[in-house]
Amino acid sequence: MLTSFLNPEQPDPLLAVARKAADDARPGKLDLTVGVYRDDNGRTPVMHAVKQAEARLLEGQATKAYLGVDGNAGFIAAIFALLGLSGEAGDGWAGVQTPGGTGALRLAAELLARGGSGRTVWLPQPCWTNHQHVLRAGGLGVQAFPAYDPIANRADLAAMLAAVEAAHPGDVFLLQPICNNPTGADLSLGELEQLAEAIAQRGLIPLLDVAYHGFAGGIDEELAYLDVFTARLPELVIAYSCSKNFSLYRERVGALLVKSCDRASRDIAHGVVMALARGNYSMPPDHGAAVVAEILGDAALRATWGAELTQMTQRLNTVREALAALGHVGGADLSVLRGSRGMFCQVPLPVPVIRTLREDHAVYMAETGRINLAALPLPRVAAFADALEAASRKVPA
Ligand code: LMR
Repeated sequence: MLTSFLNPEQPDPLLAVARKAADDARPGKLDLTVGVYRDDNGRTPVMHAVKQAEARLLEGQATKAYLGVDGNAGFIAAIFALLGLSGEAGDGWAGVQTPGGTGALRLAAELLARGGSGRTVWLPQPCWTNHQHVLRAGGLGVQAFPAYDPIANRADLAAMLAAVEAAHPGDVFLLQPICNNPTGADLSLGELEQLAEAIAQRGLIPLLDVAYHGFAGGIDEELAYLDVFTARLPELVIAYSCSKNFSLYRERVGALLVKSCDRASRDIAHGVVMALARGNYSMPPDHGAAVVAEILGDAALRATWGAELTQMTQRLNTVREALAALGHVGGADLSVLRGSRGMFCQVPLPVPVIRTLREDHAVYMAETGRINLAALPLPRVAAFADALEAASRKVPA
């Protein structure tokens, strides 16, 4: 029997709470779990730019024949351009389209695990719930280390520099330089420079997880946070996602970009990535990538998309500010959320309070305290605070 040699697996903790929220029939429930953008009406609309690009594709697409293992070449070129990178093979860059940013992370892990047996990835905590799983499954050893001060809501540069010191040359250092998931607490540009310099000195390979490009102040403005690494390091890997900034979640659109030190190494890295992809899903799906290529290749569509992305960011910032303005609520100081960026913030609450919020008030959040700001309509911030206050009173510290 198949199951006789299988051990049961625990469900993903975030998705398990999201499932509970979906099953809750109480009116007015708040599901602040999974990181999907929602407007003030709780909807996740298809962006206008996406709709228009899709209409064009419907009209003009002449074939659904395979594209190839590396996917949509126009998409990859557009992502390199969006990141201000030439993407020329001669510069050492290789790029392939992947099934989402997660697909890129998995391929990156497999590539890096091939490149050095016993290679370790250093993973600042807290991180995305799925990071460890994906990186281990890709064959890397994972060395998690705490790198966040929950009381001040600050990323801990000193802890990261200590980890760099402790790492072996050739190890991998995973970093989300733009909009940390789950904390929203990013290193400043100056701090990133220090970290990138230390990584370069130590001979580590940065793996940059870029899943929220555009949510921290603007697509072009944020490039400085990547340049710090791309300009300094001879070798690095970027896992890029279009799930959030193009609202293309279910289409699974991502890219793996690998920078090698010279053309010959670039060709080898590209060949290995192609072989890994071929041995896994063979070829990525095209639709979402074709949509992104269409948008980025057309000035008017690109402007529409940019304006929509700005609107989403502004809404997130408004909700974050409304929470921060509440100050101390139920023992948590929400004012520290000010200054963080992106879709998430981390509310420092004990797990029993989080469970009481769920059970008594139908307010669902990850048990780590992460909330998806986009899922909190501005008019409901006060009700959220009341629930938090009541739950904290019921569960004394
Ligand atoms: C999240 O962090 O909520 C999203 O990236 C969705 C996921 O797959 O976990």
